[in-house]
Amino acid sequence: MKDKSFYIENYGCQMNISDSNIINSILLKNGFVLSENLEKASIILLNSCSIREKAELTLKKKLEQLKFLKKKKKKIWIGIIGCFSKEIKKFFLKKKMVDFFVDSNSYREIPNFIHYSIMGKEYFNFTKKNETYSDISFIKTKQNDKKISAFLSITRGCNNMCTFCIVPFTRGRERSSDPYSIIKECEHLYHNGYKEVTLLGQNVDSYIWKKENMIQDQKNIVDFSHLLDLLAQKIPFMRIRFSTSNPHDMSDKVLKVISKHKNICKHIHLPVQSGSNKILKLMNRKYTREKYLFLVKQIRNIIPECSISHDIMTGFCHENEKDHQETISLMNEIKYNYGYMFSYSPRPGTYAYRKLEDNVPINIKKRRLQEIIDLQNQHSFYRMQEHLGKIEEVLIEGESKRNKQHWYGRNTQNLIVVFPKKSLNIGDLVHVEITDITSATLIGKHCK
Ligand code: SAH
Ligand code: F3S
Repeated sequence: MKDKSFYIENYGCQMNISDSNIINSILLKNGFVLSENLEKASIILLNSCSIREKAELTLKKKLEQLKFLKKKKKKIWIGIIGCFSKEIKKFFLKKKMVDFFVDSNSYREIPNFIHYSIMGKEYFNFTKKNETYSDISFIKTKQNDKKISAFLSITRGCNNMCTFCIVPFTRGRERSSDPYSIIKECEHLYHNGYKEVTLLGQNVDSYIWKKENMIQDQKNIVDFSHLLDLLAQKIPFMRIRFSTSNPHDMSDKVLKVISKHKNICKHIHLPVQSGSNKILKLMNRKYTREKYLFLVKQIRNIIPECSISHDIMTGFCHENEKDHQETISLMNEIKYNYGYMFSYSPRPGTYAYRKLEDNVPINIKKRRLQEIIDLQNQHSFYRMQEHLGKIEEVLIEGESKRNKQHWYGRNTQNLIVVFPKKSLNIGDLVHVEITDITSATLIGKHCK
């Protein structure tokens, strides 16, 4: 094959950004060349997400667009990679729109999938179920040259089996990367200009590494609190973030480590999904409203400056008006800094899809969703006021999209801060006095 140019497009979450970096590294090491432009590439990889129906619909639309490119330019190969369901694979195979599929455990085999596909054959591989990719290092490219914030998966897959969620089916059982490789990769990122790393996992608190020859701890066990503690010491000049925390597994030990280290950011993403115990049970979330509220209290006691964000879903099976009001009252009690809100869409293969009735009409799902979005906007504005007049540490990430004369960055609470440029650089950690707010942005001025 002469033209080995490839292009990756991402759908969905932060985990896909980190997976695309792994795929980049694998392909670059195998002699492929990263293309800046989809139209110029001969191999197009779509890094998919099937967590919600919307992401799948976007993928379908994209493939419709690519149909024309494929007709115009005969020599292109399209692969769907990552988090896709069996149903979506069947759908695209039937339509003959995709040349090959690579699941999230088989990235190492991508060069083979491409070669076989070019030869017009199907490649069969023996998927390694416990793949972590922990030995694969990030490679700097033109596309990520200016980035100073990276994502790094520390666990892959999930064992929780929330009844609405497709992740355990698409990404497999949970496994943790070895702590030594995580430290090594963070150091590598730092030497490549990165100033911040976000440790990723569907449930970072269940990170666990057990082995002989451990680098810490007599018991030969490293849990998430140990990992954070180790990293904070090993990469003191890098900011550390993590996501997602599961209310069922988050411990005081982790909270104490966060409060102990300045370079661990003071933000916790703590999806609640619903404020109703009846719905939490139907979702197989293994906590109650009371336990969740207690955890929020603990977070605020141990790390008073900590921001808290959420994921909430409206219109899950059997959610009635009373359940919805319980979600609203929980939000009023907590007043989150921000959140991600969705209406429920059944995902094929999940317990809810097979066994529970999707019985909340779409207009009611949407109305409830709008109500919680409006409420969250009020709460975000309320929380932003707490920052007015304060001087905060901000890591500059780039130019503000709205105003090229302004820098854009984030404070420790993961809130966006914009302020007029004054001969500073991307990657600088600076002090900014907050002078104005909106519900989504802190506005300020740089102070020396
Ligand atoms: N690991 C995370 C969730 C990952 S999925 C956790 O512990 O909660 C990200 C979010 O997508 C979920 O929190 C949920 O709010 C939403 N989501 C997942 N499945 C969904 C579905 N079938 N319909 C609508 N939203 C869904
Ligand atoms: Fe999904 Fe629940 Fe795991 S939402 S990713 S099964 S924690």
